[in-house]
Amino acid sequence: MTRLDQPKLAGVMGWPISHSLSPRLHGYWLREHRIAGSYVPLPVKPENLEHALRALPRLGFRGVNLTVPHKEKALLFMDNVSDIAKRIGAVNTVFVDERGSLSGTNTDAEGFLKNVRLTADHWDESQPAVVLGAGGAARAVVAALIDSGVPEIRLFNRTRSKAENLASSIAGPIRVYDWSQRADSLSGAGLLVNTTTLGMVNQPPLEISLQALPKTAVVNDLVYAPLETALLTDARTLNLNVVDGLGMLLHQAVPGFAGWFDVQPKVTEELRTFVLAPV
Ligand code: ATR
Repeated sequence: MTRLDQPKLAGVMGWPISHSLSPRLHGYWLREHRIAGSYVPLPVKPENLEHALRALPRLGFRGVNLTVPHKEKALLFMDNVSDIAKRIGAVNTVFVDERGSLSGTNTDAEGFLKNVRLTADHWDESQPAVVLGAGGAARAVVAALIDSGVPEIRLFNRTRSKAENLASSIAGPIRVYDWSQRADSLSGAGLLVNTTTLGMVNQPPLEISLQALPKTAVVNDLVYAPLETALLTDARTLNLNVVDGLGMLLHQAVPGFAGWFDVQPKVTEELRTFVLAPV
């Protein structure tokens, strides 16, 4: 099959998948660029992941995004895996080539960095960064910060051993501390990133005093439901630079869309408003 014979078809695999914002986001770009294509939600149970991925070429898909709980497991079922996906240990974007091979990459690190750089254009990357959490999102954020040349990453996680595993599997200037010390770690930091689920709807709040952060620091919460978390409200009260969690979701989607549909889409205010609007 040549590229031209491949239908303009992509989607997102997850379990559950009904809450994913990705179909709305890619649907917006398809309409904006008048592409006669589709981006569909694909509910795939964990035990069916390998079969579902292997079926993509035969179903005519150009690729998919992967979300919870498939990102880590999918590494095993790719024919090629990019270096960044190997470092993060997870695949979030899959490309199907004309021979039916699956190439997996991870665009979360790039999406995170683009979002913080564009939203907080005076972020001082020569200052230490503080990262809360040690799950999949934290791995992408830490890899991005190392690649951007941040001199020190102070990593905090409730389960300290997970932070230590992260630090030993991604080479870089990472220092692991106890979760209870998180508020003491903020002096001299240029950036604070929350990658935990704390502050999300139906989750406990993230408790941290931001008093010790320098006045020039940037605070980024990856939580986007709600968009305005208590962490961001506290940061605004202290006149700190604030970056919400939706931007990373939008920016990580750009390379997938560009690879599947041959158009470089843009992240705009209109897109944000559309994605956030009640369905
Ligand atoms: P993701 O892939 O989005 O990063 P994850 O892998 O489930 O999600 O990670 C969730 C993160 O939130 C973890 O760092 C988790 O800490 P543990 O490793 O100790 O589980 C953190 N987290 C979740 N609930 C928490 C809580 N009540 N207090 C502190 N951290 C919490």
